[in-house]
Amino acid sequence: MQAALTFLGIESSCDDSAAAVVRVGDRAEVLSSVVEGQVALHAAFGGVVPEIAARAHAERLDGCVERALDQAGLTLADLDGIAVTAGPGLIGGVLSGVMLAKGLAAGTGLPLVGVNHLAGHALTPRLTDGLAFPYLMLLVSGGHCQFLIADGAEDFHRIGGTIDDAPGEAFDKTAKLLSLPQPGGPAVEAEAALGDAARFVLPRPLLDRPGCDMSFSGLKTALLRARDALIAEKGGLTVADRRDLCAGFQTAVTAVLTEKTRRALDLYLDTAPNPPAFAIAGGVAANAPIRAALETLCASRDVRFVAPPLRLCTDNAAMIAYAGIERFRLGHRDDATLSARPRWPLDQTAPAMIGSGKKGAKA
Ligand code: KG4
Ligand code: ZN
Repeated sequence: MQAALTFLGIESSCDDSAAAVVRVGDRAEVLSSVVEGQVALHAAFGGVVPEIAARAHAERLDGCVERALDQAGLTLADLDGIAVTAGPGLIGGVLSGVMLAKGLAAGTGLPLVGVNHLAGHALTPRLTDGLAFPYLMLLVSGGHCQFLIADGAEDFHRIGGTIDDAPGEAFDKTAKLLSLPQPGGPAVEAEAALGDAARFVLPRPLLDRPGCDMSFSGLKTALLRARDALIAEKGGLTVADRRDLCAGFQTAVTAVLTEKTRRALDLYLDTAPNPPAFAIAGGVAANAPIRAALETLCASRDVRFVAPPLRLCTDNAAMIAYAGIERFRLGHRDDATLSARPRWPLDQTAPAMIGSGKKGAKA
């Protein structure tokens, strides 16, 4: 049995300043997880402003670290290491975290481990549910959308992803087009629940092409056209119009994610995993109809379905501390030369993603 390890994690790659303490012994435990979002700071700009985000991280991160240690009932002296997101993400924010982590490591002599933000998301099902490798993962949020086969803590194979917008981004843009509040996902889901999904049948992009790649930007354009046609015809939208548009949009996203997950499962199951498991992470995993469709699909293929609790699915530092421990156990150590990387694909062998949305590089 390996000795227990307790790590501090620091996350600042987008618009959440976060710090957490995680201990991994016989099982993994989140001792504390502090997340300070920046929605209000960026609200007026319709997207994350990198300079504002970086400044806010620089101002807030040390307070997050203090609170995370306090809530865990620990001091820096109780830690075995410091893990920090070193990319991919908005470079100013990533730098804020990396500089803080380097300072803490230099001051305490603790080992420093730079972590890939996407690896943090992809390893979360191990933190929450102890999943064994290999498992299939769908990362689906405002900034990410990709299928990964996780073969090891540093061994990921991307078998598909969005070629333009991430689904969360499409939900947010849909909300904006329909004058619903941000973040758009929960608002669109609530409207869609009251709407008629059959009234507007929006396109299902890339379903006619083989493979697991996806596209969501055309869907947003189709929604814009449908909205404008209604406005031209009637001079405005009724409550029912808005609900039906949301329902049509959400049904199209669900259909694309379900069909592409079916194909990803085929590829994954070909590798004969035992027992097979599929995990979903990211803000869009909160969407009940999407989650239910994927759960039903997994049940029909005898694949275990895992959806970590939302607070660990969205950006947080517990996943970074956990990924840092896994990386540390594989012998990885960083030092004062650790650099912040705006792009850092998890699977170096997969072709580069071309999408880069409001939340930064999707790598
Ligand atoms: O993982 P997350 O907190 O941040 C990153 O994007 O990294 O995900 C936020 C995204 C937003 O785009 C938000 O609209 C979307 O997740 N989201 C949802 C729902 N809740 C949040 N999308 C669809 N349905 C939801 N219920
Ligand atoms: Zn993320």
